[in-house]
Amino acid sequence: MRKKIVAGNWKMFKTYAQGLELASEVAHMVQDEVHGQVEVVLGTPYIHLYAVARQVAGVARISVAAQNCHQATEGAYTGEVSVTQVASTGAQYVILGHSERRQYFAEGAALLLSKVQAALAAGLKPIFCLGETQDIREAGTQDDFVRGQVADVLYKLTPAEMAQVVIAYEPVWAIGTGLTATPAQAQDIHAVIRKAIATHFGDELAQATPILYGGSVKASNAEELFAQPDIDGGLVGGASLQSREFTNIVKAMRA
Ligand code: PGA
Repeated sequence: MRKKIVAGNWKMFKTYAQGLELASEVAHMVQDEVHGQVEVVLGTPYIHLYAVARQVAGVARISVAAQNCHQATEGAYTGEVSVTQVASTGAQYVILGHSERRQYFAEGAALLLSKVQAALAAGLKPIFCLGETQDIREAGTQDDFVRGQVADVLYKLTPAEMAQVVIAYEPVWAIGTGLTATPAQAQDIHAVIRKAIATHFGDELAQATPILYGGSVKASNAEELFAQPDIDGGLVGGASLQSREFTNIVKAMRA
């Protein structure tokens, strides 16, 4: 069975102390209340990675993700953080290709491919985000668009590399807007993505690839989304900033 994952994306929220408190609360709640096979990932700002990774080191099911990384292992890139540095904190995942990075930091397919490959070489698992904008959805071309995003980056990986990748489908129009794709809309496009993986890498790898849904996931809509056959979990922004709400989303995953 595919891995089920609920990942939080804290974005640029929480001071250092607030982040440690949030991670500690989530760790306790998950330990006490979550009994299934779901994996919980905390996507923290860089400054929290090491401390949060230590905090959750002994807690089953929880791991830590960076939200970005530079593609080089080291170098004179003032202000950047390398894949190697992220891996050295104890983080196991890195979120790449988030729409906010594509939009505000002009990250395109070539750069994202180099980041995904560097992350894999450093032993990190990429959570690779993709998804269409409102305009594309209104034009009805979202399936082709998303297939293109898969092909432009993930088709350039080897099968062994692809086996380490988690995909997050996040329609841009649903991120932070309170608008969520309906379970049926999300399921449809998750199936398109899985088919695109199968076309290039074969059915076995496609069936093993976790595809998460992101975009205004809340405890009140998570269960219905996670019940869809091709939705293997969530990437949660705003609702991951509150331990109770986030843990309730984790508990909505029946695994
Ligand atoms: P949201 O963000 O849950 O606040 O919509 C999701 C994301 O950007 O990953």
